Amino acid sequence: MNDVKQRIDFLRQLINRCNHEYYVENAPTISDYDFDMYMHELEALEREHPELDDPLSPTHRVGSDISEGFDQVPHIYRMLSLANTYSMDDVDRWVSRMLEALPGQQVVIDGELKFDGTGISLIYEHGRLLRAVTRGDGEKGDVVTDNVKTIRSIPLQLTGSGWPDFFEIRGEIVLPFKSFDRLNAERQYNEEPLFANPRNAAAGTLKLLNPAEVSRRGLDAYFYYLLGDNLPYDNHYDNMMAARSWGFKVSSAMTRMTSLEQVDEFIRHWDTARRELPVATDGLVFKVDNLQQQLNLDFTAKSPRWAVAYKFPAERALTRLLSVSFDVGRTGVITPVANLDPVLLSGTVVKRASLHNEDIVRSLDIHVDDMVYVEKGGEIIPKITGVDVSKRLPGSEPLPFVTHCPVCGTPLMRIEGEAAWVCPNKYGCPPQIIGRIEHFVGRRMMNIDGIGEETAAALFNAGLVANYSDLYDLTVSDLLTLDGFAQRSAERVVAGIADSRQVPFERVVFALSIPNVGETTARKIARAVGNIDELMTWSAERLATIEDVGPIIAQSIVDFFANEVNRSNVERLRAAGVKMAVDAPATPAVDTLGGKAFVISGVFVHNSRDRYKELIEQHGGRNVGSISSKTDYVLAGANMGPAKLEKATKLGIPIIDEDTFLAMIATTSDKDPEPAGIPSLFD
Ligand code: IVH
Repeated sequence: MNDVKQRIDFLRQLINRCNHEYYVENAPTISDYDFDMYMHELEALEREHPELDDPLSPTHRVGSDISEGFDQVPHIYRMLSLANTYSMDDVDRWVSRMLEALPGQQVVIDGELKFDGTGISLIYEHGRLLRAVTRGDGEKGDVVTDNVKTIRSIPLQLTGSGWPDFFEIRGEIVLPFKSFDRLNAERQYNEEPLFANPRNAAAGTLKLLNPAEVSRRGLDAYFYYLLGDNLPYDNHYDNMMAARSWGFKVSSAMTRMTSLEQVDEFIRHWDTARRELPVATDGLVFKVDNLQQQLNLDFTAKSPRWAVAYKFPAERALTRLLSVSFDVGRTGVITPVANLDPVLLSGTVVKRASLHNEDIVRSLDIHVDDMVYVEKGGEIIPKITGVDVSKRLPGSEPLPFVTHCPVCGTPLMRIEGEAAWVCPNKYGCPPQIIGRIEHFVGRRMMNIDGIGEETAAALFNAGLVANYSDLYDLTVSDLLTLDGFAQRSAERVVAGIADSRQVPFERVVFALSIPNVGETTARKIARAVGNIDELMTWSAERLATIEDVGPIIAQSIVDFFANEVNRSNVERLRAAGVKMAVDAPATPAVDTLGGKAFVISGVFVHNSRDRYKELIEQHGGRNVGSISSKTDYVLAGANMGPAKLEKATKLGIPIIDEDTFLAMIATTSDKDPEPAGIPSLFD
């Protein structure tokens, strides 16, 4: 038994060291394969000896699927913010103030990066992570230990020596650009709202209730402040270096400085060098190094006097406004878009920027041919934030706004109380029809693969689909007449259309594009009315009795079905075999899958991903987000990601295709089905 304990301790230390080398130092010393083998061995030992398990074991980094809301605890030391400055002069003035406040003393200033994420406070006791707390309101925050434990660069058990028995360390949880881009690409594919910037994504991720999903997203953390009674050194810099030696990620940008020139040089350097960093920074932080001096300088009500932030100026560029286009959306809303003389901004060339609506154009007082400022704020789409009036051409007129739909020519209407102009020609205006076709085929609606924005437009423009109900008459040969379609891709679309007949009525209601009816409302309405005939005949008053349906939505539904085009669409969808009623209550869940954990990856032929999720759960399995040693099967479709494939193979997790899965759930006996794919390494 002692041997086992020793081996477990050895493996935990080894794995912790490897994680540190990989995630903090970016310098792994063993192969992924060897790492996985040690991890497997540790997992197996912990399974066999549950009495030796430890919640901080590196095997628990992946996070379980189960978690409840967050508890709140008061902070030991209040979490304050920093006073902001915006210019080198401001920083110089702050340094001079520090010198004046500490007359005759040697003052050392530490320069650091200001990471743009979400603040975190970690408490360690006897070298072990005790809890992780968000900033909250500064006085108390949410306990997010389970989520923080999934961040591989955070030490769960400290290494080295000399740490106080009890201390706090503060830092910033960030989502590196690479993970941020991957997350948003995934969200775009799944038609989920995109995160505006890595900061929002990091903060949102930290508050997820599912640590397995947190683990998958790839957060990281940098540390910059050590607090406690028995810190090893009397100055901030040495304390941070000690923290680094205990396993924390402390930025190598941290610099000790003793003159104004050095401070200015630090600012000049990072003003541009920060663009090369893998994570977002929004400025620099300067701190008085000596802890006794910090104590003497003290705090104001909101921030320490001994530290100051310098915020990087928002990156903006000045360029010529060439023209304005007016985009027409699915709901007929007109959005002005500026076409710009291409200009380089934060590493990308910007050619277009949103002007949002007429009120914004007017408040910026944009004129034709103006030189305009473009900024990349926190948002994904760059925006125009101002005009350089001194460069305005003589006689230039304020930007005209369209009065008629730029596509179908119908006079525009402005909805009372709203800033948007709308084209009222709902059923005759091509971009609106195309937008509805695109919506109809979306993943969360009818889930027809292979038709995106371009194909929807091509189908409409070729006269093959005049509205979404025509999709069900499409043939392979119709599709072959379009650019970019070959036999296989055309067959896939036709098969996808056929499969969409199985999509539940709740999603059909969402797919119809009834104005103001979103996904959740559609589901509630579908369940309340039961079938399309009821939906088409309920009065606005009756509809308004449904949860979340107010008078505007109710009237919108009545108006929708009062329209001949919509009614005929519904009849054609019904004739095509699309579901027009909610399914009979689901048969009680069967436990064919016995709690096994499945990861779904890739694109499927027979059912959508969402349907597979439902099937897994209906049959007593669990759908989990990312592959770990606790995954039992990977349900793989076409184009499974190579990283996932490699990981599953390394961990010896059986990879099954959809036919095998469907056979598994069709099995009525309670014995474990034999999956196809590679056998587990630990069988
Ligand atoms: S020091 C009492 N150092 O910026 C001072 N903060 O605007 C504690 N931040 O709440 C903060 N990088 O979340 C410090 N190098 C750094 C930082 C940093 C990012 C964040 C932190 C803080 C906020 C203040």
